[in-house]
Amino acid sequence: MHASAPTLATGTAPATSRSPSTLLDRFSYDDDIVRKFLWATLIWGLVGMLAGLVIALQLANPIFNLGNQYTGFGRLRPLHTNAVIFAFAGNAWFTGAYYASQRLLKTRMWSDALSKFHFWGWQAIIVAAALTLPLGITQAKEYAELEWPIDLAVVVVWVAFAVNFTMTMVKSVQCLISSRVPPGPRQLEGAHIAAGSSWHTLLLAPPHHSCSATC
Ligand code: HEM
Repeated sequence: MHASAPTLATGTAPATSRSPSTLLDRFSYDDDIVRKFLWATLIWGLVGMLAGLVIALQLANPIFNLGNQYTGFGRLRPLHTNAVIFAFAGNAWFTGAYYASQRLLKTRMWSDALSKFHFWGWQAIIVAAALTLPLGITQAKEYAELEWPIDLAVVVVWVAFAVNFTMTMVKSVQCLISSRVPPGPRQLEGAHIAAGSSWHTLLLAPPHHSCSATC
């Protein structure tokens, strides 16, 4: 039997026939999550760069501070850096991770529910940052400005992400073992992304607090 090539629009992977049983495997990638992260990337990119434009204007002329404490350079600069790094670049990274990992591992994400939790959790964290930073609610440490409840939320969301990616990799390897295909570079790249997601959880959370005496 023959099946169509995978497309982003349908999210359908190629069907493969295996002799001698001519077993037909069909699965579909979760491209809905990829599109969600892509839209978030575009929207937050716009917001972040608009904030960048405003602070650039403020450097040129203080009239753009708008005469109140919430929109001054000191409040909007961290809004800009957090928005472009964590919201724009972060969502862009997740878009790529969900798109590439499923294809590298030839496996749908282990849990659509965890993917959705990751997406909405991350957007909620970004909204929390966008509200607290102009209000001056901050740890005042560059690139670690967010207050501890938001940090905790970051850890929960990234752990969900790491579990989902690790289990997707396990699923992919189980599939390989059952089909007697040795792991190849695709699985290694999947492992790289899964390890990266766990590592970032460690990277983001503890330094904000445990090292506060020295930084
Ligand atoms: C329309 C686009 C952008 C504008 C107008 C803009 C403007 C600015 C301005 C005025 C600053 C403050 C500079 C200062 O404190 O002296 C800044 C800082 C920064 N921006 Fe942007 N930016 C833009 C896009 C981006 C993008 C796309 C990224 C990253 C993905 C980015 C990352 C940063 C970072 C990391 C800093 C802090 C730099 C430092 O402390 O040396 N910006 N930006």
